[in-house]
Amino acid sequence: MPAELRALVRAFNQMLARLEDSFRRLSEFSSDLAHELRTPIQNLLMQTQVTLSREHEPAEYRATFQSNLEELERLSRIASDMLFLARADNRLVAPKRESVELHKEVERLLGFYEAYASERGVRLTHSGAATIAGDRLMLQRALSNLLSNAIRFTPAGREIAVGIAQRAGSAEISVTNPGPEIAPAQLSRIFDRLYRADPSRREGDSEHAGLGLAIAKSIVEMHGGTIRAESSAGVTRFQLTLPLRGLHPDVAG
Ligand SMILES: Nc1ncnc2c1ncn2[C@@H]1O[C@H](COP(=O)(O)OP(=O)(O)OP(=O)(O)O)[C@@H](O)[C@H]1O
Ligand SMILES: [Mg+2]
Repeated sequence: MPAELRALVRAFNQMLARLEDSFRRLSEFSSDLAHELRTPIQNLLMQTQVTLSREHEPAEYRATFQSNLEELERLSRIASDMLFLARADNRLVAPKRESVELHKEVERLLGFYEAYASERGVRLTHSGAATIAGDRLMLQRALSNLLSNAIRFTPAGREIAVGIAQRAGSAEISVTNPGPEIAPAQLSRIFDRLYRADPSRREGDSEHAGLGLAIAKSIVEMHGGTIRAESSAGVTRFQLTLPLRGLHPDVAG
């Protein structure tokens, strides 16, 4: 092959490989989504058929509605989470550019999670401060997803630490918790949509769809930042880096 074509061919092959990877992910994702929706829909169908099959006492109807309500709430949450991610992918969500005092938001969230954490015997601490330009509610949502995971995986009697640091051009936030480690091979996948590291509850889990970290990542990237996870020696840490200014150039306008 002529030397001048070699670079072009290599670039072309790399592009094809990336496209193939995207298609593979997309098709895996549709199949995961179908599985995720199938279980709650089947539960609803069965419940409804059984209930309609004969007359019941009003209290029995109420019990059925109550249980259907929970399933429907879960489906509705998955749908709105998926919609948020799809809109973010297509740059249809524009983060605001307000001044956000990260320590204040963290304090607010820790207050909100206090009852849930103490019920589980987990302590919440925070330190440091930083202010950035960004979307307060979205950043709250991202942090909230990290905190709810951390509380869920921390053993009773232990402590979760949120650290905030202001650097020259960026702010850093870390959420650190003791607990089960995430295997190295899974660390790169936990930010994928619908991915859960624990194989015993991969699909149809009644409570957790595996969308929390995908949403956190999408929000952080919309702000021009990065998110990464590390997990070793019984400690898991999520670290966000957010530029002081600078939302994603495509959405910042
Ligand atoms: N602090 C943590 N310690 C250990 N494993 C974690 C931690 N945070 C996340 N994980 C792993 O990463 C997976 C993906 O997390 P993610 O928040 O995206 O989904 P989820 O919590 O399972 O579901 P959802 O957030 O939609 O309720 C979790 O299922 C869990 O296996
Ligand atoms: Mg989660």
